[in-house]
Amino acid sequence: MIGLAPMAGYTDAAFRMLCRKAGAEIAYTEMVSAEALVRGKTEIMVRRGDSPLAVQLFGSRERALIEAAGIAEKKADFIDLNAGCPSPDLTDTGAGAALLRKPKALAELAAAISSTTKKPASVKIRLGWNSNDCVKICKLLDKADVTRIAIHGRTMKQGFSGKADWKAIGKAKEAVTCEIYGNGDLRDAEDAREKVATFRLDGALIGRAALGNPAVFGKKTDKRKAFLEWMRDSADFSAAKRQAMAFSRGLPEAKKMRNGIARAENASGLKAIFSDKG
Ligand SMILES: Cc1cc2nc3c(=O)[nH]c(=O)nc-3n(C[C@H](O)[C@H](O)[C@H](O)COP(=O)(O)O)c2cc1C
Repeated sequence: MIGLAPMAGYTDAAFRMLCRKAGAEIAYTEMVSAEALVRGKTEIMVRRGDSPLAVQLFGSRERALIEAAGIAEKKADFIDLNAGCPSPDLTDTGAGAALLRKPKALAELAAAISSTTKKPASVKIRLGWNSNDCVKICKLLDKADVTRIAIHGRTMKQGFSGKADWKAIGKAKEAVTCEIYGNGDLRDAEDAREKVATFRLDGALIGRAALGNPAVFGKKTDKRKAFLEWMRDSADFSAAKRQAMAFSRGLPEAKKMRNGIARAENASGLKAIFSDKG
């Protein structure tokens, strides 16, 4: 399975649908706060055909994660737990990558989710907090009955520096029985399939390379048309500007487009930039 990685601010329902059309076989939502979901302060938007879908939750409180999973399971094929996000907004509360510092507590949370939800549970991790503890963490999660672990082949301390360590991901696969998806620095679906075959994985997730470029999943996609399709399906103007910047990248008129996007004051302004063949 080659899929779309979770990316906050980008992997909304409309963008997931574009990636699915281009060949993505699975997709993850943006991370969703378990606490906010439980309090009714956020909701999970999905479209018809938006499947298989992993709804990704973040949090550190077991009760909130269990309740949030109960809400998310109505929309999801998988309930995914974020144990990789390095943002202090999450780690200061013990969520995201902070869970990598306490692998046993992470496994307990995963077990709590997996034993209470109707849908299979998965976890997305990095290799570790500041060293590669991936095999140890994966073994604990495997025992916690998760269906899949997606591994970004960097430690939290590395951020996005250096290269993703695919050999480390391969070693984790040898140590467990659950599915392992690799993630990190993939260029496109062909690159992903090659890594899956080399390291005998169950799948791989493409992140940054897919931003504004669903064609990485294999099917040729007109970036202008794709963005306009995304606009039809989405109301949030600041999200539209962000997506517009991503979709303009690589186009011959990118610089001119970017200036226009930065100055655009409303949705029609953005639409005009992408409709104009310049
Ligand atoms: C803008 C952005 C937002 C991200 N948001 C999330 C997120 O919500 N949940 C998560 O697990 N990972 C998130 N990530 C990490 C990606 O899922 C992925 O692990 C990382 O980008 C490495 O893969 P890549 O090299 O293919 O981009 C995000 C990454 C980026 C660039």
